[in-house]
Order: sequence, then C-alpha cells, then structure tokens
Amino acid sequence: MRSVLLVDVFTHPIAQKYLKRSGIAHAIACAYHACHMAVKAGVNPDLAAKAALLHDIGHYEWFTDGEWDYELYKRNDIHAIKGAERAHKLLIRLGEEPKAAKEIALAILLHTDSYLPEGDLEKNKLQQIVKMADEMDEEPGGRHHYRVIDQTTALHRIKKLDQMIDQAGYPIKKLV
Ligand SMILES: [Fe+2]
Repeated sequence: MRSVLLVDVFTHPIAQKYLKRSGIAHAIACAYHACHMAVKAGVNPDLAAKAALLHDIGHYEWFTDGEWDYELYKRNDIHAIKGAERAHKLLIRLGEEPKAAKEIALAILLHTDSYLPEGDLEKNKLQQIVKMADEMDEEPGGRHHYRVIDQTTALHRIKKLDQMIDQAGYPIKKLV
C-alpha cells in the first residue's frame, strides 16, 4: 500500500519547478528504469520510482551567460544533498509516510558519488537501483538534462508508471 501517487508528486508545482530545471525526460526515463529494476529485485517499486523521478531536483541553475559550464558544476556540486532535502519536504507535505519519505531521501542523497569522500559506502538495494537508473540514462557532457518531452506525454507516462506500481502489488491506500 502507498499513500501518495507518482502523479501527485509529478504535478506538484515544486516538483514541476525543479524537474524542469534538470530535465523532465531524464527524470521520467530514470523512474521507469528504477521501477523495472525494483520489481525484478523484489524492492518496493513505488520508493524506487519516486526516488528516481526526484533524484535531480537539487540542481541549481548552472548557466553562466546562457552557457552551460559542466566542469564548474561538477567541481562545486551538492545537488544530491539539496535534492534529498527538497524531495523529503515535498513528500511529507503530500502525505507520504515518514519512513518511506526517509528511504526515498536517502536514495537521492546517495545516487551519486561525485561529492562524497573517497571510499566505499555500502548501499542498500534501493539506493543501488536509483544510482543505476540514473547511470543508464546518462549522456556525455550532461546532455540527458536537455532532452525534451511534451507535458501531455510526460503526464501519460507518469500515470502509466502509477498503474505498473499498482499492478506490482502497491495500490494506493484508500482514505476512509
Ligand atoms: Fe540524473
């Protein structure tokens, strides 16, 4: 059972603002990859899809005079930290269970090693899935952030993903 649908998360103005910044097409592609991998691995696909959808919402504007400075961005990046916090706040606001919101936030926090100190960190299955989903959709030079998708198609794909999660055994919890 889950408390919040993916479509509720996706259509929230806060999610829209930040998803547009880092690329809606990339976010949705990752959510699909994560959902498929989670179902196969026996991991909760609702948590995986939400974490993958929101994994990049911590990005700031990285344009300088309209130019994308990828090297500068990589050097100073803390998007996973900001994203984890933003996602957690948004999910709690939408009525997500605190335990689920925490798991999603942690998977977002650990989806990239780019800002972490050297050394191995033991990630759980959900955290590994979200990281792999992101890597599967990555393109050189950060080009995956600029792929476009129209809003109707995006919404349709999100609703389809919600159906897949329902069918995997995680229907929405009905309010009584
Ligand atoms: Fe990403």
